[in-house]
Amino acid sequence: MLRVNDIVEYTAENYSNAETVGHADGYSVFVPFVAVGERALVRITYVKGSVAYGEVVRLLQVSPHRVNAPCKYFGKCGGCSLMHLDYAEQLRFKRDKVAANLAKIGKIQAEVLPCIGSDKTVGYRNKLSLPVRGVRGNVRVGMYKRNSHQVIQTNGCLLGGDWANLLVSDFVRYCNSLGVAPYNERDFTGDVRHLVARFVDGQLLVTVVSNGKFGYDFAPFAELLSKHFDRFGLFVNINTLRNNVIMGDETQHVCGLEYIESEHLGVKFRLQPASFFQVNDGVKNAIYTKVRQLLDLAQTEVLVDCFSGIGVLTAVLASDRYDAYAIEIEPSATYDADQMAQLNGLTRITNICGDVTEQLPRVIAANRGKCLCVTVDPPRKGLGDKICRTLLDARPDAIVYISCDSATLARDLNMLQCDYDVTYIQPYDMFPQTDQVETVASLNRRQRD
Ligand SMILES: C[S@@+](CC[C@H](N)C(=O)[O-])C[C@H]1O[C@@H](n2cnc3c(N)ncnc32)[C@H](O)[C@@H]1O
Repeated sequence: MLRVNDIVEYTAENYSNAETVGHADGYSVFVPFVAVGERALVRITYVKGSVAYGEVVRLLQVSPHRVNAPCKYFGKCGGCSLMHLDYAEQLRFKRDKVAANLAKIGKIQAEVLPCIGSDKTVGYRNKLSLPVRGVRGNVRVGMYKRNSHQVIQTNGCLLGGDWANLLVSDFVRYCNSLGVAPYNERDFTGDVRHLVARFVDGQLLVTVVSNGKFGYDFAPFAELLSKHFDRFGLFVNINTLRNNVIMGDETQHVCGLEYIESEHLGVKFRLQPASFFQVNDGVKNAIYTKVRQLLDLAQTEVLVDCFSGIGVLTAVLASDRYDAYAIEIEPSATYDADQMAQLNGLTRITNICGDVTEQLPRVIAANRGKCLCVTVDPPRKGLGDKICRTLLDARPDAIVYISCDSATLARDLNMLQCDYDVTYIQPYDMFPQTDQVETVASLNRRQRD
């Protein structure tokens, strides 16, 4: 029988979500930061039923796929879990994760293709949300420690790269010179909770998330930023809620850029700080291009893009031959999507601000009998029963599902496969060094006899 603090000899047999899994004493043992095939002495940290968790005390046999992690905070910081693996092995991990979830949860037979990698494996993130902690005069901006709410001062993040490191050092200097108090999660005091920033095509939007009205002059911060960034905008977001949600509802523009303005895949867009935007520009472009190829839009009369964000994908798919509807719950993203349609002269796009659960049935009811294609790109919780039932009832010819959680994708595909063939499953590495994986699945309606 295994107990906490027992030391066991462990062989990593398979990857399983963020960890590896092996066996000891009749238990399934899960251990992070190991490569499949490695042997290690492991200390048991948790036991429940026939499952145990452990941590490596000493590696006994090292995998040829093990590399030195390029970040000195790896293992302590909760952000990355695969930095000890070479990139080919990271991609294998992700393909296997998607395949295992689709087979076990979804009972999906279709082949899962090898995971397509990211050109950049560090310095790829265009967005970071960093907690601000410490004490007045000694502010720490960093990442949450693994499995905790303690912040380790990382001075940025390797996944963001140079822009993030410069921004954080400017912000820490600013806070310390003005005596800005960092947030204290225990008694909910302090001035600043998070530093949120997005950097796309040389344009930086910085949002200081304030615990109430922000009583300090922003000018010295803008002055510091201007030495490192040609084009930036500063915002303050008010969040007084006593929970873990990063942003509050109210965002005010302070100075500089009001939005990022750029063009990707031939689509001009504007992006405000509160709107969603995929974090890895290169992989996002590859996914949108693939979705365009997967959908045969020759016969389409109506296209519905659900969970559409600021609508770049909608624009990539839109045409003057059919109507396109984009459904998005965040008002600032819908505003950006309206701007985007105007900027690109796309007159047949209708942006609807609302919940897909309520708005999709309406759009479908108003377009009954027309040849329909649907794309969905939900948050991690996936579509769920209600939206899957709406889709089954609407019977679109084709559905393309973009997913950031293969477990909920598998659950949803299992429901949809009663009327649809899953014809294509392609994982993409939107988030190198982490255990997260994006998947594109294509579904075609089965012909009834
Ligand atoms: C994963 S993002 C995808 C956005 C967009 N497709 C893209 O590629 O940038 C999910 C989006 O769904 C929106 N969202 C979340 N829940 C929603 C709901 N119930 N109804 C409509 N939109 C929702 C979020 O605000 C976010 O913009």
